[in-house]
Amino acid sequence: MGSNNKKYSSEIDYASLRDMYACPCDESKMYDKFLMPVKAKGMWVWFDGEEEPYLDLVLNYSSVNFGHCYPPIVEIAKKVVERVDQIHSFHSKDKLELSEYLSKKVSTEKNYKVYFNIGGSAAVSDAIRLCRYSTGKRYMISFDGSFHGVSHTAASVVDDRLVAKEQFGIPVSEYTFSVPFPSTTNDVSVSYCLEKIKKLIEKNDVAGIIVEPIQGAGGFIFPKDSFLEELSELCKRNEVKLIIDEIQVGFGRAGDFFVYQQYGVINPDIVLLSKSIAGGYFPVSAVIARSTLFDNVPLRGTAFQTTFNNSSFGLGIANQLMKLIERENIFDKVPEKGDTLLKKLNFLDKSPYVADLRGMGLAIAFDIIDPVSKMPSDKLTKIFISQCLKEHVITYACGVNFNSIKIIPSLVVTNEEIDIISEKLDNCLQRFHNHVK
Ligand SMILES: Cc1ncc(COP(=O)(O)O)c(C=O)c1O
Repeated sequence: MGSNNKKYSSEIDYASLRDMYACPCDESKMYDKFLMPVKAKGMWVWFDGEEEPYLDLVLNYSSVNFGHCYPPIVEIAKKVVERVDQIHSFHSKDKLELSEYLSKKVSTEKNYKVYFNIGGSAAVSDAIRLCRYSTGKRYMISFDGSFHGVSHTAASVVDDRLVAKEQFGIPVSEYTFSVPFPSTTNDVSVSYCLEKIKKLIEKNDVAGIIVEPIQGAGGFIFPKDSFLEELSELCKRNEVKLIIDEIQVGFGRAGDFFVYQQYGVINPDIVLLSKSIAGGYFPVSAVIARSTLFDNVPLRGTAFQTTFNNSSFGLGIANQLMKLIERENIFDKVPEKGDTLLKKLNFLDKSPYVADLRGMGLAIAFDIIDPVSKMPSDKLTKIFISQCLKEHVITYACGVNFNSIKIIPSLVVTNEEIDIISEKLDNCLQRFHNHVK
């Protein structure tokens, strides 16, 4: 970067442009410095006017899971952008191949159909509509601490603490119920949760249940071992549709293509993917649903179709990316890499300010707490994040108490980079200790 960039900056006052024209709610309030990215490669980001790059442990909220500008994906994107094989509502080769691939990833016994859209929230809305259409029922059940996006329908199933529902102007959570999520870090038992769900199903016309197999925005909160399997069985017994939202933790992040398969769930009704399935270059999302669920969907189509839902660019990259992942067995290496990184990060847990270092694959997180009260502290978390930024490490706060920090490395992270992540976080922690002592 360096001097050229500084020259450019001095010609245009971007900070003023930001103050005058950028929407304030489109900017994180976590960072106390105005930074403008100008280049990104792998896990490194260069900001305007700064010589040294920053280590990016957020990766656009897991949407560039292979790192920024991963060369094989850049090559795929360049090739795909030069050809157009998707003309509005005709099916392209890439689209059909990708549909078959995703369908067979969910099940080789049952038939699944795939519907694509733009972004995770759209997939969640589509899936909820599919539950309602296919059952003729209205209510949805979701879980405390869950996040599924910010469209009107998606927000209806999000924990109130994770989305500002007053911004919608009208109540968004009509026809939804929330129940406690039995996690490895709370004392909610699987039977208590399932009993609550059973009662809701008995008393109301429940169409579906939506669950993240590991809560992502909640701060990588893991389910108790038998929970997902028992939930799936309960849904089957009661003819309630189960949506498994793998948008954040699926597609390799937690060490496998799908997380639910690691927890023993077989042939779920609906599975959702998005984020990095097109390498982060186009926000493709996929609703992979038992084909019978589409039986009642009116063929008029427009209730589901959107202008870009079959983007030639997005689906072309996604289809070629699946082939790359298969060829290079990229996800197979994630569990070992994750274990190595988690072990190296053990020093974090020794700090009195840190609790619950946890991880599965390369989905790693820890919480920041007050060392005396042991309670979550969003204030200390903000300080931690700003000390990380001084160390040129980008992190962000999540979780219902805004005190969880997630470590989201690239899925193709090297052993050297694992060492760098751990060294840098050690420096961040020391800076933080020096600041708060
Ligand atoms: C589990 C989950 N579902 C849905 C979404 C919504 O995706 P998008 O932000 O692309 O609308 C997110 C976003 O973080 C998510 O983590």
